[in-house]
Amino acid sequence: MTSRASILLADDEEKILIPLRRALEREGYDVVATTRGREARRLLNERIFDVLVVDNLMPDLSGLDLVRDVTASIPEADRPQIVMMTAHATVESAIAAMKLGARDYLQKPFEVDELIVVDAHAVEHQRLRTQHRYLISEREEEFDHYGIVGRSRVIQDVIAKAERVAETKSTVLIMGETGTGKELLARAIHDRSAQRNMPLIKVNCAAIPDTLLESELFGHVRGAFTGAATNKKGKFALADGGTIFLDEIGTMSPSLQAKLLRVLQEREFEPLGAERSQRVDVRVIAATNRDIKRLVEDGRFLEDLFYRLNVIPLVLPPLRERREDIPVLVEHFLRKHAHRSGRKIEEIREEALARLNAYDWPGNVRELENTIERAVVLSGGPVIEARDITMPGVIGPASGGLPSQELRANVEWAERQSVQQALARAGGVKKDAATLLGISQRALSYYLAKYRVEE
Ligand SMILES: Nc1ncnc2c1ncn2[C@@H]1O[C@H](COP(=O)(O)OP(=O)(O)OP(=O)(O)O)[C@@H](O)[C@H]1O
Ligand SMILES: [Mg+2]
Repeated sequence: MTSRASILLADDEEKILIPLRRALEREGYDVVATTRGREARRLLNERIFDVLVVDNLMPDLSGLDLVRDVTASIPEADRPQIVMMTAHATVESAIAAMKLGARDYLQKPFEVDELIVVDAHAVEHQRLRTQHRYLISEREEEFDHYGIVGRSRVIQDVIAKAERVAETKSTVLIMGETGTGKELLARAIHDRSAQRNMPLIKVNCAAIPDTLLESELFGHVRGAFTGAATNKKGKFALADGGTIFLDEIGTMSPSLQAKLLRVLQEREFEPLGAERSQRVDVRVIAATNRDIKRLVEDGRFLEDLFYRLNVIPLVLPPLRERREDIPVLVEHFLRKHAHRSGRKIEEIREEALARLNAYDWPGNVRELENTIERAVVLSGGPVIEARDITMPGVIGPASGGLPSQELRANVEWAERQSVQQALARAGGVKKDAATLLGISQRALSYYLAKYRVEE
């Protein structure tokens, strides 16, 4: 909110209304004051206020009735924060108002300063709510391209380049540390290409032992080697007409690199043990989290293959070098995981956001996403607090750190252990286990289900 925050003040007693109004105006608020409940209702229908401060006892319309009206007739997004002022005898109805969604109440008589503090919080709350709404409605659309979220210049450039390359059949090389979104980008390119209805076949070169990788890529004929009982189609053949995504290409052995180079040059390959070569029409998207130029210099990656692959290089910088993307990514993942877990997240505290902004993210966007997913689960209510933000801990420098799968496995192992131990110490009483862990029962149930812990 760039403009001044607006407050509607309603109290039938002028001798209370006037000093409160002056005090709030001195604080810099735009204040509208009225002694009548009905007038307040009319004003609320006419324009949007950030905060409504209302006396419960007004002759023409009670504060509680006004709150009822407001919650029934004003859509949540436009509703003010409500603060109720109440005499001792009507505390009950103030509580009823809170149940309807009022934010706070002040019991008369109170000091003017109390009202100022409560209002300041209400205004802040409203500001964050508006900001959040703005973030998730407009910004997200603006900064979400085929699921790739980011507002930094570098990401916008990568997206623009990817859009152009999607229309061609050029080979693409995507470079970036673990978790920077290489696979996401590869899919986006395929989905935007003329071949989008054809298959996108993914091969993780690092996950398959070299001896098997060749037959995985190119297939084999029956009897090609011991155990080859039938003909088998390779991934290149399966991807014919579409796209093959060769992930972690930097780990490929030199002999396979040479075979891959041939496919790229001649658009044909031979299945293991076959006598004739096979033609293919496949777009290759390769990805690596290693410094592939270094591998070339060290003689571990064929220079010719590098040049063939590097026709269109797309570089995804680490998250710590594009921190402007953090807030939009946070919003994106909050929404995604709130939706997934059926939770309603209304707000993320600034201190929580500050923690996220300050961290180095060696696991990049994937680590950020995991952190947000965990925060959504750990926060008992609709607000993400700083304490809900827990990083997995120090995992060493990004390049020499643990592979991300291993890290994730470690984190999950630790979570599972903690939950099991707490449950054991609490003698199986979930409520106590949750207290030991410092999480809500709801969060505990989530972990129990996630890790299928026997209760
Ligand atoms: N810009 C982004 N916007 C939204 N989600 C993203 C973005 N970048 C990454 N992600 C998400 O982060 C996770 C990791 O991304 P992805 O698997 O594409 O990374 P990667 O670079 O292939 O990592 P690795 O090298 O470990 O395989 C995925 O869940 C992905 O959807
Ligand atoms: Mg990947």
